[in-house]
Amino acid sequence: MSVIRLAGIERVFHLGDSEVHALSRLDVSIEAGEYVAIMGPSGSGKSTLLNLLGLLDRPNAGTYHLEGRDVTTLSPDEQAEVRSRRIGFVFQSFHLVPRLTAAENIALPMMLAGIPAAERTRRVTQALKDFGLDQRSDHRPDQLSGGQRQRVAIARATIMQPAVLLADEPTGNLDRATGDDVIHLLEALNERGMTLIIVTHDQKLGSRARRQIMMEDGELRHDSAAVHLRTLHDNPPDPLSGKGGDDASPAAPAPYTSSPGGA
Ligand SMILES: Nc1ncnc2c1ncn2[C@@H]1O[C@H](COP(=O)(O)OP(=O)(O)O)[C@@H](O)[C@H]1O
Ligand SMILES: [Mg+2]
Repeated sequence: MSVIRLAGIERVFHLGDSEVHALSRLDVSIEAGEYVAIMGPSGSGKSTLLNLLGLLDRPNAGTYHLEGRDVTTLSPDEQAEVRSRRIGFVFQSFHLVPRLTAAENIALPMMLAGIPAAERTRRVTQALKDFGLDQRSDHRPDQLSGGQRQRVAIARATIMQPAVLLADEPTGNLDRATGDDVIHLLEALNERGMTLIIVTHDQKLGSRARRQIMMEDGELRHDSAAVHLRTLHDNPPDPLSGKGGDDASPAAPAPYTSSPGGA
């Protein structure tokens, strides 16, 4: 079953007298556990698409099924509930709450979901350790480096164990080395089964994903998964020799090595 299924999605913004078709005729399915890069030039609709997937915005037409459920027709409250439990969102500019510590930021989604204090503490302690932040638990965002802030944001986005992790230019405000660290962290989460969708205009970063979706002028211009399926169809694997077809096995991403205090 597809974790995400978009059909006939349209998103139109009205600016004064003019209309901007930010997304047109969009049909995309994403399977559970996939690692997808959404790419394309500035203004091509990448963020609009990610915001729809994250239930931060609604389409003007079309349907969105998340884990088999039509979420397009839900009320705002129902959408908020789905968002808080099934979707993690990571932004370019971190979006942490400035007056809360790292530990409090990570705990926030569990507070909103009504998870008991003891369970919150247990999960936050584990997350701080997993994300190499155990020495930074009581630091506020302005006392953390960019890399540490993004690690707090990723810990917060995944603390509810969502089905899908959405990241909009997650390394856009980081230097190359720190950005690579963050990408390895996201890839390690994907290795453990979380569906990962990253928006980027960075070719090098996008090519790490197992599937690339190219946007242009609000339309899907290219989907490497569709090409792959066509290749398989024209050149199916030989069931006896195991040869033929296209090599579907992706290169394993480098493991994340936690670097406490680093980055
Ligand atoms: N809230 C909005 N109001 C009006 N126009 C918008 C809004 N959000 C996005 N757009 C327009 O929709 C198009 C796609 O934007 P966006 O999804 O942000 O592109 P990208 O993330 O690929 O740079 C652009 O032309 C942009 O100006
Ligand atoms: Mg954008």
